[in-house]
Amino acid sequence: LDSADINEIKELCKTNLIDGITTNPSLIAKSGGNILDVIKEICGLVRGPVSAEVTATDHKAMMMEAEKLLNLAENVTIKVPLTSDGLLTCKELSKNNVSVNVTLCFSASQAILAAKAGATFISPFVGRLDDIGQSGLDLIYDIVEIYNNYNYKTQVLVASIRGVNHVIESAKIGADVVTIPTKTFKEMFNHPLTDKGLKAFLSDWQDTGQSIL
Ligand code: E4P
Repeated sequence: LDSADINEIKELCKTNLIDGITTNPSLIAKSGGNILDVIKEICGLVRGPVSAEVTATDHKAMMMEAEKLLNLAENVTIKVPLTSDGLLTCKELSKNNVSVNVTLCFSASQAILAAKAGATFISPFVGRLDDIGQSGLDLIYDIVEIYNNYNYKTQVLVASIRGVNHVIESAKIGADVVTIPTKTFKEMFNHPLTDKGLKAFLSDWQDTGQSIL
């Protein structure tokens, strides 16, 4: 899930289908909470990786922030922006076996650099590319192909998802992970023929007068 809203995360974790959470400074701001409290609480709600983003822009300060965030819980993944300092930080953290998510990726060349820096995840933003008239999904296709060509271990984590179609197309291309806004996640359950079919099954069942229990 792409969210820092504790209530939303709690609600959707009940589905047992959530593998991890991504946050970013804007989502933390929207939550209204303190970043350290929010990340710690989220880490207690899911077993999988929880991406917590550094907000410093220079390598040294990023490393200090990362250390603080890593102390919050064992499932923290450090999120760094795709800048030169971000990739230095990524390289140093991954050398020490820290899971790193490199965010704000908008080109295949950036994704190559992130893989070389040892990123665990690369986050290409499909929706924001679509917003400026480019194809976000074409970028996913390119990154998956390049990573496969060179057997890079970095996982492609599709971000900035705007709808169910982005999820389906990312899966068809072979992306490793998608981070989904709660609205889109809920929409993934729905199909009008499921509702119509269930209604008919229940009505026919009622006519039999039977009960399984
Ligand atoms: C990714 O990790 C980001 O948090 C997120 O997907 C950004 O999405 P947006 O473009 O909807 O803000």
